[in-house]
Amino acid sequence: MTRSRILGVGRFLPEKRVTNFDLEKMFDTSDEWIQQRTGIVERRYAEEGVYCSDLALEASLRALNDAGMGAEEVDFIIFATLSPDHHFPGSGCHLQRKLGIPEVGCLDVRNQCSGFLYRLAVADAFVKTGVYRRILVVGAEVHSSALDFTNRGRDVAVLFGDGAGAVIVGPSETPDRGILSFRLHADGRYADALRLDIWDISKKPYITEADIPEGRVWPKMKGKEVFRMAVTKLPETIEQVLAENGLRLEQIRLFIPHQANLRINQFCAARLGVPEEKFFSNIQRYGNTTAASIPIALSEVLEQGAIGEGDHIVLCGFGAGFTWGAVPIRW
Ligand SMILES: CC(C)(COP(=O)(O)OP(=O)(O)OC[C@H]1O[C@@H](n2cnc3c(N)ncnc32)[C@H](O)[C@@H]1OP(=O)(O)O)[C@@H](O)C(=O)NCCC(=O)NCCS
Repeated sequence: MTRSRILGVGRFLPEKRVTNFDLEKMFDTSDEWIQQRTGIVERRYAEEGVYCSDLALEASLRALNDAGMGAEEVDFIIFATLSPDHHFPGSGCHLQRKLGIPEVGCLDVRNQCSGFLYRLAVADAFVKTGVYRRILVVGAEVHSSALDFTNRGRDVAVLFGDGAGAVIVGPSETPDRGILSFRLHADGRYADALRLDIWDISKKPYITEADIPEGRVWPKMKGKEVFRMAVTKLPETIEQVLAENGLRLEQIRLFIPHQANLRINQFCAARLGVPEEKFFSNIQRYGNTTAASIPIALSEVLEQGAIGEGDHIVLCGFGAGFTWGAVPIRW
């Protein structure tokens, strides 16, 4: 069976930088608290009027350029976000219109911080089975409109930033290169550990005036539970996926994890017994960009020349749901 591989990568970060010191002016927090617990120094925020699909468009155009192809060659779009332009239709349709490629199919993925891994796995299956040959796989977030910038929401507000990352997935010319396999997991018993309650279809009507003063418009997180599960499940899944491919940890050139928290990634490296530098991190500059974080990181890794053809890498992530996964690639 044909292997699929990543043919092009692109990222886009809005220009506006928001430092921890800027957040100190909005609620009770400190640069020291944020850096100690998360590693984050600053993040980017989109300006008012900018949609998630606008950020996705910029990252997509860069990924297309990197793959040396035009938008008209895209035969399918897979879009992941937790901050879509509107609740429906999916942001994939908005992006498709902006790319000017009507009638190309669009799939929207709602897997938050593991969104990139889930959509990459879907793209891989389509390419392997010959259904599509050029799939645009994109993730974008505008978190900055939906964070509670008061003391009530400070645990979540400090973590997230806006951005977009995209890759083009297509058939590999050689069986030696490409996506080796994937492992995707979820555990809905933890669905309330990281959530947004505002859309509650069991309520009639589903949104009420009380939702605003009672704070249901803002995300809620049980931070310690997220942390504990992430540092357990990520190493476990990485070990499983490597064993399935007959790979040893020492053979992995670089782990490119979702950027949720620098401490989570440091813990994972320690648990696996690999040097911390082998876990790529850029959370210091961007915060947690959820569905966009892994392709943004991948695009920086490539720009820095940190991986080359034939190197083994592992993409991995953990987030709301809980959902998590790992994807090993021979570049
Ligand atoms: C969010 C996180 C950094 C909080 O760290 P923590 O050590 O668990 O901190 P706690 O929640 O126990 O809070 C400790 C104190 O800091 C306070 N605090 C919370 N947010 C704060 C902030 N932004 N600034 C200053 N103080 C803050 C709390 O109110 C608490 O105060 P108290 O002791 O007086 O009650 C940590 O739990 C974490 O990183 N979890 C994973 C989150 C994640 O990755 N989410 C995304 C998944 S994709």
